[in-house]
Amino acid sequence: MEALAHIEAKINEFLKELESPLVLALSANLQRGKMLRSKLALQIAGESEECLLLCAILEMIQSASLLHDDVIDDALTRRSKPSINALFGNKNAIMLGDVFYSKAFCELTRFASKYPEIPRIIANAVSTLAVGEMEDVELAKSFNDEEAKYLTMIEHKTAALIEAAAYAAAFLAHKSREVAEDFRIYGRNLGIAFQIIDDVLDIISDSKTLGKPALSDFKEGKTTLPYIYLYAKLNDSDKMRLKNAFGCDLSPMEQDWILENLQTQGAIAQSIALAKSLGNCGIEAIANHSCDKLIQIMREMIERDF
Ligand code: FPP
Ligand code: MG
Repeated sequence: MEALAHIEAKINEFLKELESPLVLALSANLQRGKMLRSKLALQIAGESEECLLLCAILEMIQSASLLHDDVIDDALTRRSKPSINALFGNKNAIMLGDVFYSKAFCELTRFASKYPEIPRIIANAVSTLAVGEMEDVELAKSFNDEEAKYLTMIEHKTAALIEAAAYAAAFLAHKSREVAEDFRIYGRNLGIAFQIIDDVLDIISDSKTLGKPALSDFKEGKTTLPYIYLYAKLNDSDKMRLKNAFGCDLSPMEQDWILENLQTQGAIAQSIALAKSLGNCGIEAIANHSCDKLIQIMREMIERDF
């Protein structure tokens, strides 16, 4: 069986152990994503039984966080399909998330005696991502024009678990602390670049490829990096126009104006350039550890869909 299918099977086994037909019925409606965290861990630590366990834990935490995120964002779709909250309501979505992440933590304790760093790394990352989600909600309360606040928030919300996947996998592969730090830096940069590209794709992909409406971030009240860069370039009256459109259901005319300005003012290109430069820093961090596949993962992630 291919490694990703193995991970899927392991998750299903864990869910069956809970002996709840309700959990199985609800989770049958979940779609697994790209499994980036697993791909990363597998590249660093190889396809051992221990690594497959780590991957299953990471994917369950990832699913839990998205179940909660869709409730927080009132998102009715996830990967082009109805979200769990849309199908079964917020209460079920939150509790299914709780089931996923508490079961993942239960399995995480298996690493404690042989690899004491791993439970600490993963548990700490989950606290960080919850803090990141809180920061995201806070930032969405008004138009944010500060690049630093956005970058800190995505480092917490998205990069923390990707960083933890790389860092924990390095310990699993018996790398020295020093080398593990290099993989950690790679993971952090991959995570930040990943979220920037995701936020760019929300603008430039059509809604079919994305599985959600175009410019959905801005309409939901999220000032992602391209909008922050655009705002900095606009004159005072256009700054006001952009701010007024924030968090609104945009008219076709307003949507076209924003889209055109994001391109002509170079805000999209500037965002992609930052993702690329972070990607290169990540690649540099692992330059001495002969990891061609990790370099490829970074490049493919940045170049996806454009
Ligand atoms: C997606 O963001 C959300 C995250 C990357 C993190 C969410 C984290 C929590 C809800 C903390 C709780 C954690 C656990 C384990 C229960 P997004 O809304 O920008 O992306 P999207 O477009 O994919 O929804
Ligand atoms: Mg969301």
